[in-house]
Amino acid sequence: MFWKRLAVVFAIWISLSSPVWADTYEVRSNHDPDGIGKIYMNREIAQVMGHQGAGWLERSSRETEEQPQKVISALQLKPDSVVADIGAGTGYFSFRIAPQIPQGKVYAVDVQPEMLEILNDLKGEKKIANVEPILGSETSPNLPENSVDLALMVDAYHEFEYPQEMIAGIVRSLKLKGRVVLVEYRGENPFVMIKGLHKMTQKQVRQEMSVAGLQYVETRNGLPQQHIMIFEKVG
Ligand SMILES: C[S@@+](CC[C@H](N)C(=O)[O-])C[C@H]1O[C@@H](n2cnc3c(N)ncnc32)[C@H](O)[C@@H]1O
Repeated sequence: MFWKRLAVVFAIWISLSSPVWADTYEVRSNHDPDGIGKIYMNREIAQVMGHQGAGWLERSSRETEEQPQKVISALQLKPDSVVADIGAGTGYFSFRIAPQIPQGKVYAVDVQPEMLEILNDLKGEKKIANVEPILGSETSPNLPENSVDLALMVDAYHEFEYPQEMIAGIVRSLKLKGRVVLVEYRGENPFVMIKGLHKMTQKQVRQEMSVAGLQYVETRNGLPQQHIMIFEKVG
């Protein structure tokens, strides 16, 4: 009787002490060297690109490789749009978007304070006032609720350590009919010479966004190596 009771108490203790994310994420010790050993919806999460690689985000060849102006025209911005650039890095996209929305603003969110420091220095250098750096956490973009028209993630979502929590937070920050735009290297194409965990297939992105209740709108395929995938907050 004593041992039975002890076993019940132990089982309750184990279930209460397990983190909530244990049901959502699987941890593997034998994993891809570019990943963190954490699996979400059958996808291994990639390692975060460290701030030491910031120079690579600003490389001049990016203009031809990623054609940022095409991404920005796909966003269909209005002069007063409020945009969240999540995983903004050095602000490569934030500073290209800001002049298109003179009455609006860009929240430039990142988890690495060192990235935001670089972004802040560039903000002063470029004299662009409507970019606001925001230090996010691994589980939240730390944005005000119902305030954002469009959340953009360029080459970033695949490295979020808590993607489900992040997308839930992003959805909360969106206004009704607000859009989420993901730009990711095409996982379906073996000739896109980017490490596997740093690419995503459309199927995978759609599955992960549908969990957050986002409605798929369309995919734009005009970029050399990436998809532009657009979703909408419907309720
Ligand atoms: C490969 S960089 C891309 C930066 C930028 N979007 C660009 O295209 O130049 C990815 C960035 O996402 C950031 N990041 C990773 N996890 C994040 C999270 N949970 N919330 C916000 N930013 C995150 C990293 O710190 C890094 O700066």
